[in-house]
Amino acid sequence: MDNSNAKQWDNDHFLHPWEGMEALGENDRTFIEGASGIHLINEKGERLIDGPGGMWCTQIGYGRAEMAEAMAEQARNLAYFSPFNNTNSTAAHFAREIAKRAPGDLNNVFFTTGGSTAVDTAIRFVHFRNNLVGRPEKKKIISRQKAYHGSTYLAASVSGKERDRLWLDKADDLAHFLPNVNPLYRTPGQSDENFLNEKVADLENAIVALGPENVAAFIAEPVLASGGVIVPPIGYHARCLNICRKYDVLYISDEVVTAFGRLGHWFASEAVFGIQPDIITCAKGMTSGYAPMGAAIISDRLIADVAGKDATFSNGYTYSGHPVSAAAGLKNIEIIEREKILEHVREVGPVFQDQLQQLRQIDIVADARGMGLMGCVQCSVDGDPRSELGRDYEIGSRIDMECQKRGLLVRPVINMCVLSPPLIISKSEIEHMFAILREGLEATSEWLGKISDR
Ligand SMILES: Cc1ncc(COP(=O)(O)O)c(C=O)c1O
Repeated sequence: MDNSNAKQWDNDHFLHPWEGMEALGENDRTFIEGASGIHLINEKGERLIDGPGGMWCTQIGYGRAEMAEAMAEQARNLAYFSPFNNTNSTAAHFAREIAKRAPGDLNNVFFTTGGSTAVDTAIRFVHFRNNLVGRPEKKKIISRQKAYHGSTYLAASVSGKERDRLWLDKADDLAHFLPNVNPLYRTPGQSDENFLNEKVADLENAIVALGPENVAAFIAEPVLASGGVIVPPIGYHARCLNICRKYDVLYISDEVVTAFGRLGHWFASEAVFGIQPDIITCAKGMTSGYAPMGAAIISDRLIADVAGKDATFSNGYTYSGHPVSAAAGLKNIEIIEREKILEHVREVGPVFQDQLQQLRQIDIVADARGMGLMGCVQCSVDGDPRSELGRDYEIGSRIDMECQKRGLLVRPVINMCVLSPPLIISKSEIEHMFAILREGLEATSEWLGKISDR
């Protein structure tokens, strides 16, 4: 196949997610043409460590022959069935394996096509259930600043990253946003306990102000991922769940990033944060990125509220429970268990976090934070997290460029480098990745003239 004009075709015909209009048609994106293990291979044949793990999703790493074979076998045998009219044993088996690993009575798996449709489904289900139990006014969803829940109209409406909300419409009367839960921005001198109390009170005050009779659900990522790997204060989720229970508000835990091993467990809600939510949404790591797949996992308690009613949950997708994705999902679980990848994450997670913290020594690093195999380095010209976003886009792309030269792909989100490598990354590879990142940050600092200024 002759792809020599691919750069031109990409610019002329491929509209990318979050496509910036300023440079439309003039982009110089890195082409990723191959991958193996934790490494990507670009169009020049250079190997790059996959710092962001694709988009937080390449848990078992690239190039797994047995995964390709499982998918190929499923495609040869049955590439598609209609989940509207029929069912299929591979998809049913995958649903069963997910339910076995999900906390408490979360036993009902609604398959979607990815994370946005999982969140969309969760919200639609909550509305459906409230309609059926005679509370049609109970519809509002409480979310948080910096949250990202996806890109359908509903999922985007409950997403709270300010910049993403500038140019597109959203269902404003549906969502209410709580202030940032990032401890970095607490008032100077505020204790951990006081900050936690304040953040929990934000939720309770919002429910009371909106009227509990109007509030359907609270949606929260256990760790806010693309908002900048924001880890809420310890005890936050459990206390928020108690508030939700007090006012009969449902709790949707958006585990699109954290499920399937990122924090060392199948699901983080209960294993890490001690909560049993009403619905968990997941995607990404379900197939390690080998095929698109997502799910909203709904509790038996909620299902009991609607079972037997004269109603249809008219929500679903042509590709709900796609058999090739389900085959990939089953193989993914098999590999994660056989290779003890969850245990591995729990073992190397502290090394990752320790290396991350050491980057604080660099003058442009304003904060370094994370959990498990998720991390974020936040930079600013003067190392102060509160300073204005001035040259911050430039800093992000400069770090990316400096790191790519040295063999690491990072994913700058404005002035933040977000890391979530494939879960199979070894201790020495973690150290190597951070050594490159350190060099990239120092080179960026030098470029900014910071080193000579000191
Ligand atoms: C927490 C969270 N929820 C939902 C989504 C949307 O998932 P998708 O891009 O698969 O639609 C994302 C994507 O990054 C996410 O991070």
